[in-house]
Parts: sequence; C-alpha cells; structure tokens
Amino acid sequence: MAQSYDVVVIGSGPAGYIAAVRAAQLGLKTACVEKWRNPNGEMALGGTCLNVGCIPSKALLASSEEFEKIQHHADVHGITVKGASMDIKKMLKRKEGIVSKMSKGIEFLFRKNKITWLKGHGQFSGRNDAGFLIDVVGDAPETVVAKHVIIATGSKARHLPGLKVDNKIVCDNEGALAFDSVPAKLGVIGAGVIGLELGSVWRRLGSEVTVLEALPTFLAACDDAVSKEAFKLFSNQGLDIHLGVKIGDIKPSAKGVKLAYTEADGVAKTLDVDRLIVSIGRVPNTEGLALDQVGLATDERGFIPVNDHCATAVPGIYAVGDVVRGPMLAHKGEDEGVMVAEIIAGQKPHIDYDCIPWVIYTSPEIAWVGRTEQQLVAEGRKYKSGQFPFAANGRALGMDSPDGFVKVLADEETEQILGVHIIGMAASDLIAEAAVAMEFKASAEDIGRICHPHPSLSEAMREASLAIYKRALNM
Ligand code: FAD
Ligand code: NAI
Repeated sequence: MAQSYDVVVIGSGPAGYIAAVRAAQLGLKTACVEKWRNPNGEMALGGTCLNVGCIPSKALLASSEEFEKIQHHADVHGITVKGASMDIKKMLKRKEGIVSKMSKGIEFLFRKNKITWLKGHGQFSGRNDAGFLIDVVGDAPETVVAKHVIIATGSKARHLPGLKVDNKIVCDNEGALAFDSVPAKLGVIGAGVIGLELGSVWRRLGSEVTVLEALPTFLAACDDAVSKEAFKLFSNQGLDIHLGVKIGDIKPSAKGVKLAYTEADGVAKTLDVDRLIVSIGRVPNTEGLALDQVGLATDERGFIPVNDHCATAVPGIYAVGDVVRGPMLAHKGEDEGVMVAEIIAGQKPHIDYDCIPWVIYTSPEIAWVGRTEQQLVAEGRKYKSGQFPFAANGRALGMDSPDGFVKVLADEETEQILGVHIIGMAASDLIAEAAVAMEFKASAEDIGRICHPHPSLSEAMREASLAIYKRALNM
C-alpha cells in the first residue's frame, strides 16, 4: 500500500526544507521529495541556495576578499606581505567542504524531525479520497499519498536563446562557481546580483572583467543614491561595466568566446574573453511536475499562481519560494515555507512582503528594505530623508572601510520608516535592524533615540535617522 503523509514537500531548497522542518515540528507526518545530484553523482539536499547559490558564492566571495585584502589593503595597517598567491583548487575545496557540511546538516535535521527524504523526481499522478498522488521517479520508484502538498521546486538560470551553456567556457551560476583556474579575461552578461557578485570574485583573483548590461540604469531595483555610489565604487575597483548594450553574435570555441555587442551610443564593438558568465535572471522550475494531473497550470511567465498565503487554486496544494511571485531570495522562500506549514497546522500566520530585506554581497555590500526614494516620488508620497556616511563613523575608519552610507526614508507626517538603504561594510547584518524596525512600524525618531553600541557600524543607522531631523550628532 502507498505510504501516506500529512504533508509532502517537493524540493528541498531553503523554501522546501524549512517548510518540511516546520511541518514536522507541528506534529505533521512529513516527507520531502528531492532529486538533486552533485557533479560527483551524490544526491544532496539544500537546493540551489546550498549547492550552487547563496552558500558557495559567499564562500568564494570571502576567499577572494581575503586575497584582495592581503594584496592591496594590508599596507595601510603597516603590514608588509610579499608573494601572496592563490591556490584555486584549495579555495574550491574549502567551498565544497562548506556546502557538504551544510547539506549533511539538513540530512541531520530530517532525521531529527523524522522527515522522510523521498529520493527522486516528484510528479503529480492524480488524486484519490485520501489525498494527492505523487510519483517519485528514482532508483526506488514509488507512489505516495499526501493530504497537503507544498511545491518548492525553485528556479534555474535563464539562458540566452541559441547559446549553449557548457559550464566550462560559457557558464551560468553553476560553472561560474567552479572555474578551475582564473580566466585572464572574463565576460559577464547581466549586471545583476550574480554578475556583480561573481564578477567581483574573479576580478579580485586577477581576471579582467567586462560586464555587459542591457538596461541603461545600473541596479535599477536599488535606491538611486545607492546605485550611483555602487557604480562609481565598482568601476574604480576595476569592473568594466557597460550599460544599455545590445548583445549580438556570440561565438564560443574551445579556447574562449568572441562576442559582438552594440554600446548605448550605437557604436558596434567586439569582446574576446576566455570565459563568459550568463547571468540574466532565473526562471521558475515546473518541468515534469505534471501539474495538469491535479488541475493546476503555470502563469504566462512560468510561475505557479498563488495568493498572499501561498495557496494555489487547488485547496490543499501550496507553492513557495522561487517558483512563485516575489523576489527570488532564500529568506523569502524560508518565510513562506514556515507560513504554509503553520497554515496547514491550523494557525493564522502572514508575511509582510514590504519588510523583506535584499542584500548584494559585493564589497562594499548593498542592502535595503522597503521603498526606494524614486518609488516614493512615483507614488506621490510625502517623505523625509536622512543620510549618514561611513566616512564619519569611527569603527568604519578603524576597519579601513570608509565607503558608503546609510539612508533612511520616513513618512513626512507620521515619521514611520518607509525604507532603509545601505551601501557599506556589513550592510547585510546592519539591514536586520531596519527590517525589525519596519516590522514594528517604528518611526525614525525611535531609532534615533535607541542606544547603539560605540564604536560600531550600527551607529550610522542611528545617525541617518537623526539626520532626518537635521540633528545627526557626528556630522
Ligand atoms: P531552490 O533552492 O531552487 O530548490 C529547489 C529544489 O527543488 C532543488 O533542489 C531541485 O532539485 C528540487 N526540485 C525541482 N523540481 C523537483 C521535482 N520535480 N522533484 C524533486 N525535486 C525537485 N538568495 C539569497 O537570499 N541570498 C543570497 O546570497 C543568494 N545568493 C545566490 C547566489 C547564486 C549564485 C544564485 C544562483 C542564487 C542565489 N540566491 C540567493 C537565490 C536563492 O538561491 C534562491 O532564492 C533560493 O534557492 C530559492 O529557494 P527554493 O527553495 O525556492 O528553490
Ligand atoms: P538579476 O535579475 O539580478 O540580473 C539580471 C540582469 O541581467 C538584469 O540587470 C537584466 O537587465 C540583465 N539582462 C537581462 N537580459 C539581458 C541581455 N539579453 N543582455 C544583457 N543584460 C541582460 O539576475 P541574476 O543576477 O541572474 O540573479 C538571479 C536572481 O538570483 C536574482 O534576481 C536574485 O533574486 C537571486 N540572487 C540573489 C542573490 C543575493 O540575494 N545576494 C545573489 C545572487 C542571486
């Protein structure tokens, strides 16, 4: 007889495994279907985020930052370093070690919470009185029955039509996280989050990096003040960023790629690179789910349509993470996973999508939550703005990180914080205070009155809030 579960989650990325853990914590009999195989053939939990996304990219960012610090920023501290070199194989091994440790960590969480890992590809094959039927196609095929299903199948890299990604010469995120040597010349198509993070990694390790972006605006989702500052800083670091370009013929060979493009001013150019990263966004993963077997369909962009509570059109089936609308961020998927598990268990949680923080892990980091100034202008909302530079923060100077600022936007009348934008060291950690403040509907004055540790980067958040009232204390 088919095994029956209260909840079957399809996909074990951050949205799926967290949904499974929360469902199990709430006493629901839970299984998770996952088919991921690493290049060594081993099956692994953790999805894109853990295997070829957030975690390995942050490992490489950290390694390359250390290398750059030792090479170019030690002198300022009075440290002389001669002959620093990089062992790429060792760097990759460290990254793989972290990924493997974290993936085994999820296996441990599954055992601890008595979650069954169904190894293979999950697809719907109908429904009966007991629930939805899910075929698990793998080494040990089986069909299971689920009272509730959470689809968490994530996303995959968007590719350019007609351009084959071999992940050796022409790469998406998977290949770009595993170059076995530093390409002398690296091309990047798309100046988005992946292009800037991975472009920075390989630039720091010695590549000459050219980034080609279709839009005329740099980092259009960021506050204008931040994108302007970021463009200046990244260009000074050596990223050669071209905006408003139109990509033409791309000719890969065994040795590299020849690429034709037109600059924003109409001038035709060519670029020869040893390797090319294509980072032009991601598309939802619904291939082979047989959604039609349960009366579901994707929207015109391939996402599974859901309401604010991640419920699909079919009662009992939910979808979370990259496969549904909203930002493709691991923590957004995790929060949706928790929300759906709690709804299935009869609770009434909700997510405030306006309070989801974004981070770009460049150096300096970029992080924001809430509205940008240009959004407030477009909405016709009256607001006040306060900004404080890290150049006036003692801790930032001590750490030789004077670049960037914190900018706080608040409603003109109520002074409620509407958005916080940070470019600077540790912005990924600093933004958490802003997210908490916004969840609690704090005013800028609340932040200005709260005691912050000295000396710390967090003082810049307080000072930017005070700057709204023209009473920053150190500016
Ligand atoms: P995924 O992580 O994509 O997981 C989906 C899983 O479902 C996969 O394991 C897949 O094998 C499995 N699956 C799919 N279909 C089936 C099926 N039919 N049967 C069985 N299993 C199936 N986000 C951040 O917030 N911070 C970051 O720093 C960050 N860095 C990133 C860096 C890179 C290079 C990339 C590519 C992405 C990054 N992201 C980051 C985005 C983040 O990885 C995604 O938002 C997140 O992984 C989405 O989680 P998910 O659970 O929805 O899907
Ligand atoms: P992205 O959406 O961030 O950026 C893609 C860029 O490519 C855009 O600027 C777009 O205008 C440009 N583009 C699209 N088509 C193009 C073309 N034909 N020619 C030139 N440029 C073109 O997508 P990216 O960088 O691939 O990342 C995918 C997603 O993964 C991100 O949106 C984000 O959700 C997630 N991610 C998150 C990270 C984080 O949180 N730190 C890190 C990496 C990825």
